[in-house]
Amino acid sequence: MQTNLVKNCFEKSFDKYDENAFVQKILAENLSEQIFAAKNSFDTVFEIGCGTGLLTRCINNKITFKKYFANDLTEKSKNYIAKILPEFTFIYGNAQKIKPPHNIDLLTANAVFQWFNNLDKFINYYKPYLNKNAILAFSTFGKDNFSEIQNITGLGLNYLSQQEIINILKPDFDILYTNEYKYKLDFNTPLELLAHMKNTGVNSLKKKIWSFKNVKDFCTDYMEKYENITLTYNPIIITAKFK
Ligand SMILES: C[S@@+](CC[C@H](N)C(=O)[O-])C[C@H]1O[C@@H](n2cnc3c(N)ncnc32)[C@H](O)[C@@H]1O
Repeated sequence: MQTNLVKNCFEKSFDKYDENAFVQKILAENLSEQIFAAKNSFDTVFEIGCGTGLLTRCINNKITFKKYFANDLTEKSKNYIAKILPEFTFIYGNAQKIKPPHNIDLLTANAVFQWFNNLDKFINYYKPYLNKNAILAFSTFGKDNFSEIQNITGLGLNYLSQQEIINILKPDFDILYTNEYKYKLDFNTPLELLAHMKNTGVNSLKKKIWSFKNVKDFCTDYMEKYENITLTYNPIIITAKFK
């Protein structure tokens, strides 16, 4: 994925994100519960792709920590985190390329890794920065995510299956928890569905210009193919302990 495109789309969506990101909010709650179940106190937390702070808020409410490092592709994110945490260090930039903090005890990300080009490479890059027994806790999306959009437009990210992710982690991590499910959101019109995607930053599935004709064709195709207007989310939650 082109990170500039992802950055621009999320930056534009931030003001409307929290009121539209229903699924990401549920995931942040579930993920923070699983972090708490693994361990409730950490010295150093590093959150990747913190966005407007949905997960940051949940972690801050449930878990104690000494140092919090927060990262996002967009600098605007820092202002949102500053409203949640009195003290933190913001590391701006592409998490696949930045210099991470040392001695991480909790590495976490809510609804971010699906944007990464190569999860395997990312995990290998972060290993030297993890303490022994560090917790890796994240949510991402599986192969059926936005199946309606994939079906109609052919557009989609290179989603990994739960098993593919487990296979990447297995050599270096003990898997503590995995869960995969489907969640369908209902809409009144296909146009409403597209607006939902835009307001949650997900109109950067490819560098495609949505002309008036594209939007019209999408709406027609959707109505022809589906009886109800829904958008399927396919979340995967994983927690694991670094060996
Ligand atoms: C779906 S939002 C999730 C935001 C937040 N984690 C939450 O719980 O709502 C994805 C976030 O990941 C960020 N992001 C995407 N790719 C990234 C990358 N390569 N490095 C850092 N952040 C990234 C986006 O800017 C966006 O804020």
